[in-house]
Amino acid sequence: MIIAQISDTHIALDTPDADQRIQDFASTIADINALKPQPDAIVHTGDIVHNGRQDEYALAAATLAGARAPVYVMVGNKDNRANLREAFSACGYLAPNSDFIDYAIDDYPVRLIALDTLSSGSNKGDFCRERVRNLIDLIDAETTKPIAVFTHHPPFEVTVGPDPLHFESRDIMSGLRRALQHSGRVVAVFSGHVHRAASGHVESIPATVMPSIATTLRKGDYPAEMKTRPIYHVHRFGPVRGFATETRIVGTPPLPT
Ligand SMILES: [Fe+2]
Repeated sequence: MIIAQISDTHIALDTPDADQRIQDFASTIADINALKPQPDAIVHTGDIVHNGRQDEYALAAATLAGARAPVYVMVGNKDNRANLREAFSACGYLAPNSDFIDYAIDDYPVRLIALDTLSSGSNKGDFCRERVRNLIDLIDAETTKPIAVFTHHPPFEVTVGPDPLHFESRDIMSGLRRALQHSGRVVAVFSGHVHRAASGHVESIPATVMPSIATTLRKGDYPAEMKTRPIYHVHRFGPVRGFATETRIVGTPPLPT
């Protein structure tokens, strides 16, 4: 199974770099469309748009509609649940009336679980008791397949950058980490939000963070020729080795398969 992960496109319509953000998003989808073999799924790990506006979502949804593989979206701290749900309701996997946007996809050899870590009070992550309960229920709903979990905020301390903790408190992050270990079937956690690549663990579960697709918001030092080339992750699953992650630079010829 192959999953292309994208994140933090931060589509905006009235910032000086708005055109670049749109171009970064479009060029990434074009690059994914050229992958051979095609990914089975594309997951956007949140901060799809920058201000949660309907017109921003309309543009993002139009860009994602050009993807050849099925796309799954989730919320980041810059997203608006109601407007996101409205823009992507036709996709069929978002429950219409739930408080949170968390769901499982059972169509693949690896189950995909998308979590809602959006806080109403800050840009950091939240994961209240109701969401812990939801996650355990989602994990328990199927008992045979490995599970890949997607979160906007990474559930581990990212030691590169000014603040390692991306949840509102260590207790909140610990609650999420404990729930992720429930059952032992979660084999990987894939996140965004930090705008730079990082890796860590949730005890024995490997966890990664991908950079922002928006090159103007990407953190870290890149050579000049990389300034307008987005980076995304391709996660390839093998039943014995688990996930192996390729970091792809948009516009690079694909690796031989
Ligand atoms: Fe974020």
